[in-house]
Amino acid sequence: PRPILLTRHGESQDNVRGRIGGDTELSEHGEIYKQKLAKFVEKRLESERAASIWTSTLQRTILTAGPIVGFPKIQWRALDEINAGVCDGMTYEQIKKNMPDDYESRKKDKLRYRYPRGESYLDVIQRLEPVIIELERQRAPVVVISHQAVLRALYAYFTDRPLKEIPHMEVPLHTIIEIDLGVTGVQEKRYKLMD
Ligand code: G3H
Repeated sequence: PRPILLTRHGESQDNVRGRIGGDTELSEHGEIYKQKLAKFVEKRLESERAASIWTSTLQRTILTAGPIVGFPKIQWRALDEINAGVCDGMTYEQIKKNMPDDYESRKKDKLRYRYPRGESYLDVIQRLEPVIIELERQRAPVVVISHQAVLRALYAYFTDRPLKEIPHMEVPLHTIIEIDLGVTGVQEKRYKLMD
């Protein structure tokens, strides 16, 4: 079976402040995670010379991949976090207070709700199509370092979860989800490297 390793970026400064979107650097915790991740990947993929590391174009994923050596790294715009449009940089509290109708619409239908001048989960799922095609075409392992909304969609695709569950799935920080695609089906392992 061929492993696909999915992980969110290490905790970012915006994660600490509770702000969505943005393009900040890693927090102290995130800095520790990137080192642990590199050790894990180098060990797990020791004999996998053709493996590759895919990130988004946002610096929190590129920085998380930084210490991993020995594998090519590829940046995909399609792996960028859901675009929160006018809400980029806001906290959920601020959205609730300043845009109560939007807050309610999103709560009612998180899959279809599209941020003004931004994206919905359905938009994200659609733009991931080329990434999924390329992931399926790969023969070697791939490490995907991306963001919560995007990883929910990728994970759901490979584990065959219904669309409506996607926006609500757990993809915790600092945890690697390994998906093994074999002829008999898909197997999953989780490695929590830190809190
Ligand atoms: O910043 C965006 C989050 O990673 C996605 O979270 O879709 O649950 O609000 P949410």
